[in-house]
Formats: sequence, C-alpha cells, structure tokens
Amino acid sequence: MSVTGNALQMRVMGKRILTPAICEFSFATDDAGPLPEFFPGAHITVETPSGAMRRYSLVNNGETPDRYVIAVKYEPASRGGSRSMHEQVEIDTALNIQPPENSFPLGDAPRYLLIAGGIGVTPIYAMSKHLAKRGKPFQIIYCTRSAEETAYLDEMNNAFGSALQIHHDFGDPDKVYDFWDHFAAPQATYVYCCGPKPLMDEIKAISGHWPEGRVNFEDFKPVEVVRPDDTAFDVTLKKSGRIITVPADRTILETLREAGLKVASSCESGTCGSCKSGLIAGDVDHRDLVLMEDEKLTRIMICVSRARSGRLVLDL
Ligand code: FES
Repeated sequence: MSVTGNALQMRVMGKRILTPAICEFSFATDDAGPLPEFFPGAHITVETPSGAMRRYSLVNNGETPDRYVIAVKYEPASRGGSRSMHEQVEIDTALNIQPPENSFPLGDAPRYLLIAGGIGVTPIYAMSKHLAKRGKPFQIIYCTRSAEETAYLDEMNNAFGSALQIHHDFGDPDKVYDFWDHFAAPQATYVYCCGPKPLMDEIKAISGHWPEGRVNFEDFKPVEVVRPDDTAFDVTLKKSGRIITVPADRTILETLREAGLKVASSCESGTCGSCKSGLIAGDVDHRDLVLMEDEKLTRIMICVSRARSGRLVLDL
C-alpha cells in the first residue's frame, strides 16, 4: 500500500473507550510539534494497519493543535477499516495520516442547528465547541439508540446544557426523532447534519424547500462502494497472469491488498483518482466520479468499480 500526498508519520498517544463500540484515538508526531491547523468539520485520512484508507472527522480544537483526535465506531460489517483500528491500533502504534481537509466547513450564520446521528457526532461536537467558544447561538439534536451507545454523553451535557437535546430511539422506528417542526418554514438558521444514511436522507427530504447552501451534510461515501446485490467476479492481472476472485462484499482494491499486492489509493470512494488502473478487457460497471467518458474504455478506478459481467483483465 502506498500513501499518496504528504502523509504525516504519527503515533497513537491516547486510546479511550467511549462506548462498547466507539473508541477515541489521539495522534501526535514524535516531536509533539505543532500540526497543520484545521477548522470544525475537517477530517483526516488514516492508513489503518490493514492498509485501508479511512476518513475520520476531527473532534478536537484545530487552532494550533499538537494532536489530532478522532472517534471510530466498530462496524460489524467492516471491510477492514474500523476493525483494524479497534483491534490493531494501540498506544504507540505508528500510522501514516494525511493532513486535515474540510468538505463540511462551518459557514457564518446568525444561528445554527447541528444534527448528529450516532458516530456522526464527531464533526458536530467539534462545531459545537467552536460555536460555544465564540458565543454563537446554536442548538444540537443528537440521536442515538440508547445512553450506553452515546459517545461523549456526559461531556457534551456538561459543556452545552440546554443547547443539547439528546434523543434515544431504542432501535424502534416508531420512536425516531421527528424533525419536521425544525424545517417546516425555511429560516436563516444554518443546518449541519452528520449521521447514518436514513437520518441524512430524511433531513434532505424535508428540507428541499430551504434555500441552497442552508442545509449541509457530511457524507464520506459519495458513491456506494459495495452494493447489496453485487456478485463475485474474477480479475486477471496481466503482468503476473494471476487470476483473483473478488468476493461480492469486497472491492477489487481490497481483494488485491488482501492478496498481498501493493496498489496506490487514497479516498477509496471513487473521487480522488489515486487508484486509476489500466483496463485491458472486460465489461466494467464504472462507479467513480473521476473518469471521463472516453477514459472508461481503458481505465478503471479499482476502489469502487467492478465487473458488470464476466472477467476483467487489468494492466497490473
Ligand atoms: S482511491 Fe480515490 S478514486 Fe480510488
């Protein structure tokens, strides 16, 4: 696995269990020197010990930071990222980390509504601290299944008091929070939402009549990497002649990595172009947001695209 860009060599300085499924990690460089600054909503990309590249929102204050702090939820259906972070990362583990980027920036508004679902609280927590420090009016609605599964519950309650509304649905679809009253009439409020897809889909559905740019979402999966109806297929690697079977629940990139091949990657969501590979033959379901139409006959982004049918032959 090679890391593209200007990755920082960092070490794990802290590992804190927040809930049975969520762990907080803090990273610093060996000299504990200052790090690139960031604003609330920023994320870093971590190369996990398994080789997977994963983006995580930063939780801490980004002004002259000496560490980066993230929280990671263990996903039972993990394709390698969260499991590797939980099981293979301990205090002192060295990791390559790409510096902060921000695709969820906090705008300047008269007031804010911050909506978090589950682990989506991480950028929302960072935004809340930033706004509180500046005396800006904001309200947080934080939805989780139960108190036990709520990361940062006590510290957020202590920090934000009545500005924080916590809602537990206990896994019952009839008990999910009803956001309609907040969206019925468009307001000058800026909304920032991060959480599971059903939550963000609901907010998108009920805020369609709001002015553009007023309701903002953090979504680390601009394309569906693996879909429920995907099937296995074979890939022939021309340079070695190896034939590798890509399982239904894995990408080509993940499968090549598991087979011991080193292939460049970064976003692993079809948006950055790092994993572009030569395509020699095959019927490809192109799922990336990078390739031009005329490139699709000879190139494939192996982090997301797969065979529509039959075998693919790659120039690898
Ligand atoms: S790793 Fe970014 S497009 Fe594949």
